[in-house]
Amino acid sequence: MPILEGQRPKGRRESYVLPKVPVPPLKETLDKYLTSIKHLVEEEQYQKTKAIVEKFGEPGGTGDLLQKKLLERSEKTYNWVYDYWLEDMYLNQRLALPVNSNPAMVFPKQNFRDRKDSLRYVTRALPVDFARGQLAGTPLCMKQYYRLFNTYRRPGLKQDTLIIHQPGSLEQGHIIVACQNQFFVLDLVLKGKKLKEMDILTQLEKIVKMAENKEERQPPIGLLTSDGRTEWAQARDVLIKDSVNSESLAVIEACLCVVCLDGPSGMECGDTSRALLMLHGGGYEKMGANRWYDKPMQFVVGEDGVCGTVCEHSPFEGIVLVACTEYLMKFMTGSPSKMGRAISVSELPAPRRLLWKMSPKIEGLLKASAERLQRLVRDLDMDVHKFEAYGKEFIKKQKMSPDAYIQIALQLAFYRCNGRLVSTYESASIRRFHEGRVDNIRSATPEALAFVKAMTDEEASLSDSEKMKRLCDAINVQTNYTIAAITGLGIDNHLLGLREISRELSMEMPEIFTDKTYVASNQFILSTSQVPTTVEMFCCYGPVVPNGYGCCYNPQSEHLLFSVTSFHGSTETSSAVFIRALDEGLLEMRELCKKANKSHAAAAATGSNTVEPSRGSEVKPPGTPQKAGK
Ligand code: COA
Repeated sequence: MPILEGQRPKGRRESYVLPKVPVPPLKETLDKYLTSIKHLVEEEQYQKTKAIVEKFGEPGGTGDLLQKKLLERSEKTYNWVYDYWLEDMYLNQRLALPVNSNPAMVFPKQNFRDRKDSLRYVTRALPVDFARGQLAGTPLCMKQYYRLFNTYRRPGLKQDTLIIHQPGSLEQGHIIVACQNQFFVLDLVLKGKKLKEMDILTQLEKIVKMAENKEERQPPIGLLTSDGRTEWAQARDVLIKDSVNSESLAVIEACLCVVCLDGPSGMECGDTSRALLMLHGGGYEKMGANRWYDKPMQFVVGEDGVCGTVCEHSPFEGIVLVACTEYLMKFMTGSPSKMGRAISVSELPAPRRLLWKMSPKIEGLLKASAERLQRLVRDLDMDVHKFEAYGKEFIKKQKMSPDAYIQIALQLAFYRCNGRLVSTYESASIRRFHEGRVDNIRSATPEALAFVKAMTDEEASLSDSEKMKRLCDAINVQTNYTIAAITGLGIDNHLLGLREISRELSMEMPEIFTDKTYVASNQFILSTSQVPTTVEMFCCYGPVVPNGYGCCYNPQSEHLLFSVTSFHGSTETSSAVFIRALDEGLLEMRELCKKANKSHAAAAATGSNTVEPSRGSEVKPPGTPQKAGK
């Protein structure tokens, strides 16, 4: 039986290893909240919000009551925010998974000589012997690793369910292979023996052949999984009325992962095109139906060398995905092929094609899903850009945190494009806590605003040293915010917890959460995330609001890789324009640092008393006490 999220097995040893996520002090969160929004809203609105927040935070008021309840919840649970966060961030979200939710890792283009070569690539990638706990011994929560291959996000009419299969229930170990929009079951264990690479290659070749058989071709049911979650849930209800369909669905839900064998895309294979193919498959005419978006791990192997992974995000973060993917990449490129056989060819049963029983109603639903996917495909504006002028080594030499520096550069780019700053999300890992996922670093700080103004509106009237001072201030505040967030003192999870516990208590929703400012501050027009890699590949994802940007970056020693997305449908955004502004700002920031270094060196040489603005302090190792926030 699968375990449903929330019914966690008790008494697992790892439950006691890591500390619990703390519940931050209420006053601190409320003060930080006001600071985080003051410069982003009109003065009149700010005064309204301030009054609401102060009332909420009055001694003995609603805030105190909810805080007390949250502390009680924290006593009783391993992680007080986990379920609230999972539901709010993923399971309650109704938007389609491709683009809106599922991130993708894009591999460098592979040069396959022929189809067999690409199939061989798959056999080397199968996770059947995937090493669990590769970071064992590190003080980070490993739970997400245990959800890479045994979870499934089932759509629901109002809320999805994250199903976690117990290890025993997966012992038959099968994967689903998608080929020409058909789904095949490939058992990895036969008569108690694990298939070897050669066996798997044989099975994959059979699948490719079977997929070509037009007479047995099945409808492209995978398209339904690309639809809005409610639409897919409704379609699923219709689908499972027939036992053929419900059996096929059950087999997919229980698989370890999906391997998508894509045909040639017909597109040029630059970074941006490959990223698009990972995010949405290029629509139903290309690879959009050769996917099963509910499954957390989908490995895509294209005949033309377009390869990567597409992930359903709810069970794990990008960082865990990278660790897993890098492990596989290193395995594929670094260990000799073991093409031995475990089982003779004649003993290998043919892989099973999953069948679907259609009806006019299901035909109609499929058509509607295909159209909606097509709209999403047309709307996505993506630009993958390698900034080559410098990388994180230059930033470190300035004694600044590269991550904070990049965040400030993103703020500058946004301001240049829009003349304002907006609510910004930067994911901050809280895996140092038991079952920790992420909190938010709100990077649009007042200090960032002061800096971006210095580089734009006030550019002509300010000296370089004043600009540099503002840059250093912005970086210091950003770095401190980061430290606060990763040590469990972010404000977003705390506010979410207070809101959700008031819902649980069936209270009237406190005004702080219905306030216009709170609603707007949760619309993350700029949604950013650092996903660094140690092998050549990059992560990408879509914007989280219609008029927003998704920006995933991968800082390398000598270059910075940015993957920027937005929607063509918005007149406020353009990925190419944003990238240009980002480039420009990064170059200007380097000039500013160089000038400051020069004048500092000159001052040192002449012994003059010039005071250099204090540079960002090095991020302290995990657990080092440091005063957080502003
Ligand atoms: N001077 C010199 N070097 C500095 C410095 C300074 N003032 N501050 C930091 N550095 C160095 C660090 O020591 C580190 O060195 P390393 O490359 O040798 O390890 C490097 O710069 C990077 O540090 P920094 O840029 O500050 O960022 P970080 O690596 O600590 O990352 C977060 C910050 C917020 C991105 C990280 O904590 C995090 O939470 N990551 C997870 C994000 C996530 O979940 N993404 C996926 C979402 S799906």
